[in-house]
Parts: sequence; structure tokens; C-alpha cells
Amino acid sequence: MTPILKLENIQKSFPGVRALHNMQIELMPGEILAVCGENGAGKSTLMKVITGVYHADAGNIYLNGEKITIKEPNDAYSKGIAIIFQETSLFKDLTVLENLFVGHEPRRQVGPFKVIDYDLMRSKAQEIFKFLGVDMDLDVIVDKLGVASKQMVEIAKAMTYGAKILILDEPTAALTNKEVRALFSTIARLKEQGISMIYISHRMEEIFELADRVTVIRDGEYVNTANINEVTENQLITWMVGREMSNIYPKTDLEIGDVMFEVQHMNRSGLINDVSFKLCKNEILGIAGLAGAGRTELAECICGLMSKDSGKVILNGKELEISDYKDAIAQGIVYASEDRKKYGLVIAMSVMENTTMSILDRISKSSLINFGTERELTDQYMKELQVKAPNRDFVVENLSGGNQQKVLLSKALVAKPQVLILDEPTRGVDVGAKYEIYKIIEKLAAQGVSIIMISSDMPELLGMADRILVIKAGKLVWEVKRGPDMTQEKILEKAL
Ligand SMILES: Nc1ncnc2c1ncn2[C@@H]1O[C@H](COP(=O)(O)OP(=O)(O)OP(=O)(O)O)[C@@H](O)[C@H]1O
Ligand SMILES: [Mg+2]
Repeated sequence: MTPILKLENIQKSFPGVRALHNMQIELMPGEILAVCGENGAGKSTLMKVITGVYHADAGNIYLNGEKITIKEPNDAYSKGIAIIFQETSLFKDLTVLENLFVGHEPRRQVGPFKVIDYDLMRSKAQEIFKFLGVDMDLDVIVDKLGVASKQMVEIAKAMTYGAKILILDEPTAALTNKEVRALFSTIARLKEQGISMIYISHRMEEIFELADRVTVIRDGEYVNTANINEVTENQLITWMVGREMSNIYPKTDLEIGDVMFEVQHMNRSGLINDVSFKLCKNEILGIAGLAGAGRTELAECICGLMSKDSGKVILNGKELEISDYKDAIAQGIVYASEDRKKYGLVIAMSVMENTTMSILDRISKSSLINFGTERELTDQYMKELQVKAPNRDFVVENLSGGNQQKVLLSKALVAKPQVLILDEPTRGVDVGAKYEIYKIIEKLAAQGVSIIMISSDMPELLGMADRILVIKAGKLVWEVKRGPDMTQEKILEKAL
């Protein structure tokens, strides 16, 4: 059978980075091909080459056996190739309907004029969403939609172009479980219609659920391809990382110290309802709950990013005055946000500027920054977290997603926290790097830092936490220590 899409010998370099080298990939008609690889392996770059966002420096692209060139994204669209990005590319201020057809509105003839055929647009849009199995208000402004709905609009937009090949680059990274299920059922419908898909994800269980075949790439090079039912998770990890990995959670049995940190009667109307808990030195406290349960809001109230109605935050027996996040950092409470863009990173700035931005006063003397210290600290954390960037002045925007996450962690660690609050610390991070991050969390705990880990990744919580709090609708509903009762089933039961 002729592949619907085939790439061979693709080369792509950026200044100082060889992103793709002799890359190859084959997509068969109607299949779902997973593409796996560590952060920075070149997955997104490869997809951008396929969709005309980047031009390869060398190499060939074949569509149905015919050699083609893809000049720009619209060119890819017109050839039936569409990508759903990690961040959506929709026009925020336009309605769903307008977004679907912007630039290729159906027209009809009125006398000498061709005018936009709004009725046809609307009926086509309705038909597409029906086919996708999605309820959608066509007249809502896209900016008002959540991530999951925006993604559906992007998929629908691809359908208006009659896409035959759909690329999904980490589509579930920011979705709730329920939204993931909805997306998967849409993907199944697309597959039934014979649409070929390339699926990128760091979540192994998704790959095994969806994919027909899987291609692994490493450091910009092709490694291997296998049928999904002829390969194990361990085998894939070995191909991705280039070595065997038997244990993913480097948890050791640390002696847990005395109570160091305490939250008393935290309240925020409609979000947090009288939450109290204690945290010991050396302890890793997991916080579980469904999306929207108030876990992030709790963290934000603790560290002054959101104002609280009442509640005390106590560190080493002393009540802290925290009116904004600066106060929290100054007193040793550091938060690494789940939302890299919102409270986390300034993506237009360099790795170094991001790493040190919250501690500039500590490394300055009479308002002059000590650049030597700044560079040293940045290099130290880049090395410790294995941030894959050509140098410390590299702009964060050009890092792969997982490496942006590592810079976010560097920024938190450099502030030398006594209490470190990690919100979804490994979202979008590959298995090898996850392991490195867990090792760092363990090391910090051993050094006496208290850690709060908010995570939707249940195996990660079970693998790392000494104790888990379950939050439901802003309330603390259950607490469990590491032991036979700390199981996924019990936690889910309490969270639901
Ligand atoms: N516009 C750019 N300018 C410079 N370097 C870039 C650019 N885009 C990507 N890179 C580099 O190319 C390499 C591959 O990045 P890419 O985003 O393709 O990785 P990825 O496999 O998608 O990783 P992740 O799993 O973290 O999303 C990385 O080293 C990245 O820093
Ligand atoms: Mg990527």
C-alpha cells in the first residue's frame, strides 16, 4: 500500500540547534500513527515541517506517492493536511462560525457579485459538528470557550478544508479526563471516516489506546517504528530514552520531620471551603481531586496570588503576612504554576531571565544585579534539570514544551523554598525528564524542604506522595497516608 504521507531524509536546523536529521516517517491511509520521543526530540518541529510552518533544509515529502512541496500552512490545508496545535491558532475575537470559514467562505452569485453564503456556511458547520459528535454554539466568541472546545473548533475547521490528514500535537495536555474521553470519541469518528492521523503525546496509556503504529524519534533522528500490539511500554521507553528504565518513581523512605507548615481555615467564597492541613519537614504531600475542585485556587490563596476571605498560613510556628506573591517568596513559600504562561514564564525572555526573575533583589547590591551570580545560578539549574537549550540566553519560546516546564522548575528552585508548591509539575514532560524531576523533588525533601504536589497524574501521586489530601468542591474530604489504603480506587471514590 502507498503511504498517504511519506517524509524522507528531512533535515532542519535552527541557529545552534540541529532539530531534525535524516528524519523519516510514513503514514498509512486511515491509520493513527503515534510519534513518541523525549522533550526536544523534534516531534513538533517535524509536524511543523509537514504543515508548512517551517521549511525543511533538505529532504522529500510525498503525498499519495507524489512528491510535493508545502510552502505555507494554507498550502498544507489546501492539500488536506491540518494540524491541531498545542496552543490553538484561532482568531479569539471571531465567532466559532467565522473561525471555521475565515479565508475560505462559501460564496454565491448575486447578480454580478459573489457574496458570502451565510446560510450555507451555517448548515455546513452544523453538519460538521454533528459528524464530530459535538454540541457547539456557532455564534459564541471563541475567546469565551475553554481549551477543549477550542480544540474541537480547530478540528471542525480542518474538516471545512476537507482534511484527509490530521495532526494532533499533545492535544490532551490541558484537558480534564472527561474532555479527553470526548476528544477520543471524536477521534474514533474521524478514523471511521478514513482520516489518517498523527498523534503526539507523552501519555503512554493514550498511545496504547489510540494508535495503530508508533514511530519513536530521539535527538532529531529516527529510531524505530512498530505495530502497537507488538511493542511494550518498556520497549518504547527504551527507544525514547536510549537506555533501559525499570523504576519510574525514585521514592526513598525518608524520615519525616516535625510539623513545619500549617494552613488553618482557609476560605474563599465559592472556591475554598474551610481547608486546614499540616505539612511536615521532609514530607511530600500530594493533593488529588478532579479538575475544578479548587486545588490550584487553594495554592493561589496560600501564596497570595489570589486573595483569601479568611485563613492563616503558618511557617515554623509563625503566622505569615502574605498579601501578594512577593511576600510568599520572601518568606520561603514558592509556587510553580500549572499554567506556564499565566504565572510561570515570560516566553519572550531568555532561560536566564526567567530563571532569576523572582530573586533579582537577592542577587543585587545597591540595585545592581550581580551578573556573574545570575549566570552561575542559571547554568547550575540548567545542568541539574538537564534543560535542553543551546545556552542560557536562548529564548524560552523556542524551547520544546517539556523544556519550558523545566525552566519553570528552575525558577522555583532558585528561590530556595522552604515550602515548595508544585502544580502539575510534569505536565507535557517526557518519561526520562519526569524521572529527573522526581529525583529532584526527592532530593529537596531530603534536604528538609516541605513539598506540596498537586497532580492529576494519579500514578505520580501514588508513586511520590507520603500523604494525600483529596479535595472536592473546595473542601478537604479525605486524607490518607502512604500504605495499603492509599490506592487509586479509594482516592477516585472520594474525589468523585
Ligand atoms: N523556532 C525555533 N528556534 C530555535 N530552536 C527551535 C525552534 N523550534 C524548536 N527548536 C528546537 O528544536 C528542538 C526540537 O524541538 P521540538 O519542539 O520539535 O521538540 P518536541 O519533540 O516537540 O518536544 P516536546 O515533547 O517537549 O514538545 C529543540 O531543541 C528546540 O529547542
Ligand atoms: Mg512538542
